[in-house]
Amino acid sequence: MTTSDFKIIQNFLSQHCGIVLGDNKQYLVKNRLAGLLSIFDFSSFSELVNNIQMTGPMSLRLKTAVVDAMTTNETFWFRDDMQFHELKEKIFPEIFERKAGTVKVWSAACSSGQEPYTISMCAEDANKKIGKTRNVQIIGTDISETVLAEAKAAVYSELALSRGLDAQTKSRFFQKIHEGYKLNPTIAGKVRFQPFNLLKPFSVLGHFDIIFCRNVLIYFSDDVKRDILSRMVNSLEPGGYIFLSSTEAMPVAIKGLEPVRSGGVRYFKKVS
Ligand SMILES: C[S@@+](CC[C@H](N)C(=O)[O-])C[C@H]1O[C@@H](n2cnc3c(N)ncnc32)[C@H](O)[C@@H]1O
Repeated sequence: MTTSDFKIIQNFLSQHCGIVLGDNKQYLVKNRLAGLLSIFDFSSFSELVNNIQMTGPMSLRLKTAVVDAMTTNETFWFRDDMQFHELKEKIFPEIFERKAGTVKVWSAACSSGQEPYTISMCAEDANKKIGKTRNVQIIGTDISETVLAEAKAAVYSELALSRGLDAQTKSRFFQKIHEGYKLNPTIAGKVRFQPFNLLKPFSVLGHFDIIFCRNVLIYFSDDVKRDILSRMVNSLEPGGYIFLSSTEAMPVAIKGLEPVRSGGVRYFKKVS
């Protein structure tokens, strides 16, 4: 891969999905995209790079494949488990108490579904605790249609389940089928999935009581992070909450968001 091919990929990723790649990542790009040469029948990286700059259905498929190859989809059940404890014990009960009607949650960059389904399990437990069935709707979005297809199927391997789920939760919410373990429809039914690029306007998604935006901002520049978080504030209902991952910090203070420290975790509340 030539330096000029690398620069074109670098620009494409930054403009198309906000991902910032340092100049030292040429080797990573070459490794991740090598498999696409045979899939698209290209004889060189230059041919791949020429096609990515074109329009038409083939170029669109190629762009999707490049984004898929370059994004990291790592996720697991109850990731940052203290956040989910707080969600179940404090945040859902508080919102159920103060708000009538459906409670809406957005899992932005949801990968293969473990995050929104974990939220759904927490909603089930929070309802159980108060002896009610308050309606909770969760939307999981991601730029990658490949991971969204896995999320929609809601069937996971033994290995995927072993990452974050204890035996009791596994037997409570999953059923063994030929292909693996199928998530129970009570939990899966609260979640719908939609392809969505975080660089695009959020207005099409509506408003939310809670937003999870975890382990994705790390790929973006500070300007893009700030822009995404500021727009997320506008998509939050008054008093709504945003969770980042425990290892991510707010790039700067975001107008309208106040940090909350509770239950051993830090998250953010929309204040007017
Ligand atoms: C590491 S996973 C995080 C999954 C989950 N939120 C978690 O914390 O376990 C990052 C996800 O961000 C998605 N992603 C990357 N750029 C994106 C963009 N511009 N818009 C939407 N999703 C994006 C990737 O496809 C990937 O599935």
